[in-house]
Amino acid sequence: MSSWDPKLYLQHQDHRTRPSVELLGRVCLEAPSRIYDLGCGPGNSTRILRQRWPDAHITGIDSDDKMLREAKSSDVNADWRCVDVDAWAPDNPADLIFSNATLHWLGNHKRLFLKLMSYVRPAGVLAVQMPRNFTSPSHTIIQQVVETGPWADVLRDVRDFNPVARPEDYYEFLSHHTAMLDIWETEYVHVLKGENPVYGWISGTALTPYLSRLEGKDQQTFIEQCKDKLSNAYCKRPDGTTLFPFRRLFIVATVKE
Ligand SMILES: C[S@@+](CC[C@H](N)C(=O)[O-])C[C@H]1O[C@@H](n2cnc3c(N)ncnc32)[C@H](O)[C@@H]1O
Repeated sequence: MSSWDPKLYLQHQDHRTRPSVELLGRVCLEAPSRIYDLGCGPGNSTRILRQRWPDAHITGIDSDDKMLREAKSSDVNADWRCVDVDAWAPDNPADLIFSNATLHWLGNHKRLFLKLMSYVRPAGVLAVQMPRNFTSPSHTIIQQVVETGPWADVLRDVRDFNPVARPEDYYEFLSHHTAMLDIWETEYVHVLKGENPVYGWISGTALTPYLSRLEGKDQQTFIEQCKDKLSNAYCKRPDGTTLFPFRRLFIVATVKE
């Protein structure tokens, strides 16, 4: 089953791939041989892993068939597997588990992160980036539209509206298992162009599971309400640009020897 549109997602490829580059910049492994990219999407994060380690065995994991098809048709050399990260376990212990912009789609982070750490060999690394902007208008507007429309019952359980914990929570449950734990946040200020570009951005990500559950008139009205509220919250500036502040949480955990 697919709800993602790789072409729409890649419209902001530069903005979306930059956190991967910055996350990878803090991974101090010299020559990891087994690397897993969880939620590899169309392969844009896998590409930067491949560029850094041309000889590694890299596996891209994703549960969306369209995203994975796009990854497979790219020139990135990797094994591609269609698996839900929640049900996934590696064939062999990992030197590096990398995940950019994916784990916020899964719940119960204490259990999930500890499980992923257990798949990494001693001195290996779990490196994760997740958005932590769920109290920003881009997301509170989705919640408001979901909860106040005739679709409320159908959409309410789609996902947790605030799935990412505080940085100190991740420190709390990971620090006992790590030799080194690097946690930081960055707020990007994306400079976007065009009409209602924040709607364009989230229609390729945060809105996907909602839009895939609606059809016909309901879907149209849902989109119109989101568009209307988003264009009021993120105004076009006199120079034609729209600023989209976007906070992200980065975690690089090196497993104890
Ligand atoms: C925002 S994209 C990230 C793509 C890429 N890693 C990047 O850096 O741009 C999130 C990806 O996570 C995948 N995903 C979401 N939940 C997943 C799950 N439970 N198991 C596997 N993949 C999942 C989606 O299909 C999507 O391709």
